[in-house]
Amino acid sequence: MLSISPLIVALVVASTPLQGAQAWTTFSVPHAPGADDVPALMAALQGNSSYTSDASIVFAPNTTYNVWSPLTFPILTNVEVRIEGNLSYPQNITLVQEGVASSNYSGAWIAFAGGNNVTLSGTEDPEWGWMDGYGQQWWDDMQQTNRPQGWKFGNITDGVITNLKVYKPPAWNFLTSGSTNVHIYNNTIIARSDNASSFPFNTYVSLQSYRQFTSYRLSSSPKTLYYSDGWNAGGTNLLFEHNYVVNGDDCLTVGSGAKNVTWRNSYCEGGHGLSIGSLGKGGSVAMVQDILFENTIMNTTLYGARYKSWTGGNGAAINVTWRNIMFMDVMFPIYVTQNYWDQGVGGKPNSSSTNETHIENFLFENFVGTIQNTPGYKEGSCISDPCWYYVANATGNEVIILDLYPDTALNVVAKNLYAQTLTGAPVAAMCNSSTTSNDVGFECWDGTYIPDAIGM
Ligand SMILES: *[C@@H]1O[C@H](CO)[C@@H](O)[C@H](O)[C@H]1NC(C)=O
Ligand SMILES: *[C@@H]1O[C@H](CO)[C@@H](O)[C@H](O)[C@H]1NC(C)=O
Ligand SMILES: *[C@@H]1O[C@H](CO)[C@@H](O)[C@H](O)[C@H]1NC(C)=O
Ligand SMILES: *[C@@H]1O[C@H](CO)[C@@H](O)[C@H](O)[C@H]1NC(C)=O
Ligand SMILES: *[C@@H]1O[C@H](CO)[C@@H](O)[C@H](O)[C@H]1NC(C)=O
Ligand SMILES: *[C@@H]1O[C@H](CO)[C@@H](O)[C@H](O)[C@H]1NC(C)=O
Ligand SMILES: *[C@@H]1O[C@H](CO)[C@@H](O)[C@H](O)[C@H]1NC(C)=O
Ligand SMILES: *[C@@H]1O[C@H](CO)[C@@H](O)[C@H](O)[C@H]1NC(C)=O
Ligand SMILES: *[C@@H]1O[C@H](CO)[C@@H](O)[C@H](O)[C@H]1NC(C)=O
Ligand SMILES: *[C@@H]1O[C@H](CO)[C@@H](O)[C@H](O)[C@H]1NC(C)=O
Ligand SMILES: *[C@@H]1O[C@H](CO)[C@@H](O)[C@H](O)[C@H]1NC(C)=O
Ligand SMILES: *[C@@H]1O[C@H](CO)[C@@H](O)[C@H](O)[C@H]1NC(C)=O
Repeated sequence: MLSISPLIVALVVASTPLQGAQAWTTFSVPHAPGADDVPALMAALQGNSSYTSDASIVFAPNTTYNVWSPLTFPILTNVEVRIEGNLSYPQNITLVQEGVASSNYSGAWIAFAGGNNVTLSGTEDPEWGWMDGYGQQWWDDMQQTNRPQGWKFGNITDGVITNLKVYKPPAWNFLTSGSTNVHIYNNTIIARSDNASSFPFNTYVSLQSYRQFTSYRLSSSPKTLYYSDGWNAGGTNLLFEHNYVVNGDDCLTVGSGAKNVTWRNSYCEGGHGLSIGSLGKGGSVAMVQDILFENTIMNTTLYGARYKSWTGGNGAAINVTWRNIMFMDVMFPIYVTQNYWDQGVGGKPNSSSTNETHIENFLFENFVGTIQNTPGYKEGSCISDPCWYYVANATGNEVIILDLYPDTALNVVAKNLYAQTLTGAPVAAMCNSSTTSNDVGFECWDGTYIPDAIGM
């Protein structure tokens, strides 16, 4: 291995100080071929406060950086982090797992501790600005132990994430918890597996927490998968647009604490939809409000629009709209459940006396597309029988499933749903009129989808 010190060149350009303002510092992140680039970068950031305010931190063009251990940016003020080269995870899975298990791991492989006016950007050059996660080997091994969250952009006020490109992340991608006024646009995630038998379990952006697979048994049959959610947080005043996401879990997950979030003009392929939840686990009090998802193509995703809260949850999700959604070969274009439980852990809980997370003012409008109802078709994340997403009594032809609790769902409406099934079978709906207090826009029954005057 080459000795590092002579190869580390920290190019620091301090511009002429502007009148009344601190000098702007541009820090070019040093790179040493064949070695981990993280320790030198973190030492520089900790050792020099001119790099953490009024500064540009630049991963240089034409350079592939080795991000071989978890990287945490300290609190930043007026800083842009520009990724003009490529970043690379370790190819050694054990090394990543050791990093995730280490005491200095701050919740993501690349974490921002927080700050004000922080921009994280890649480059428009299609060959550069990528974070390469070497995820394929993780997916092929169904490796679920100590998987890294990709990026944590947490506790930031006035932030931007743009032109970032992520290739085959081992697991989840972005976490924006605790941040406010953040614009996230023109980012690309490509987590497409090379082979049909391995599946990329990952979420694009989690506003909530990262879902942990707490245990996973490979050798037993049937294979079972256990989910649980980690800590909850939220983000406020977030705008996502022009993002291109190919992945294997939620395209966007909005969790408790989220307020005023817009997702628009984007593309999601292969994942689990535009989701709210899960909320109210273990009776916790959730709050989600003012969320808009619009103008998005959902291509071969499991769900289009999804809401889920746990049986026995508290709190509410209020003012949520999904509109102008085109769905291509999607199994469940619209799926709402206030009755989520872990099918891997046991039977449906008895919920006669517990509370439910309330939902109010939910609108599904202008959904157009095709329902994947091919007999025998299984979505890639199904590794059990029945699949984890199995819905009792569903025919597979449903454009909308409303699984609600009485007196806890107010003003849930679906308008202008235009669907066809791949087999040509009539489009269906599931809905129990004893759980709804308003006209939902279609005949509320388990049967053919028949829109009414409100729904057309
Ligand atoms: C910190 O960075 C500034 C701006 O580049 C530079 O002038 C200064 O020498 C650095 N200080 C240390 C201790 O490295
Ligand atoms: C990019 O890096 C390679 C290898 O170090 C070098 O040969 C090439 O000249 C560099 N290109 C540019 C445009 O800097
Ligand atoms: C915010 O940071 C950017 C650099 O990313 C800088 O150009 C701008 O001046 C900063 N805004 C304020 C108000 O300081
Ligand atoms: C992978 O990393 C582990 C832990 O650091 C190490 O023991 C092992 O030798 C590495 N494997 C290879 C092939 O480098
Ligand atoms: C940067 O990484 C991406 C994704 O792995 C790769 O496709 C691209 O070729 C890399 N760029 C260069 C110049 O190696
Ligand atoms: C935000 O800051 C709070 C308080 O310091 C901390 O508890 C929390 O973990 C931080 N969240 C993120 C996502 O960094
Ligand atoms: C996104 O990137 C495309 C192509 O690089 C560019 O034309 C477009 O203006 C960008 N969009 C935004 C909102 O910056
Ligand atoms: C909602 O968030 C958007 C995008 O960040 C922002 O422009 C808008 O002012 C916010 N609305 C309110 C009422 O705060
Ligand atoms: C939809 O996704 C499939 C892979 O599931 C891909 O082959 C196809 O090109 C995508 N269609 C569009 C319009 O992007
Ligand atoms: C929901 O939207 C209505 C109408 O825009 C508004 O009056 C109300 O304050 C919103 N409720 C919440 C909890 O955001
Ligand atoms: C049910 O909701 C009420 C009113 O919000 C609350 O006081 C009570 O603690 C909740 N019960 C449970 C079991 O969560
Ligand atoms: C499924 O349908 C059967 C027959 O109508 C009914 O008894 C049963 O309760 C239904 N199951 C669910 C979970 O709705």
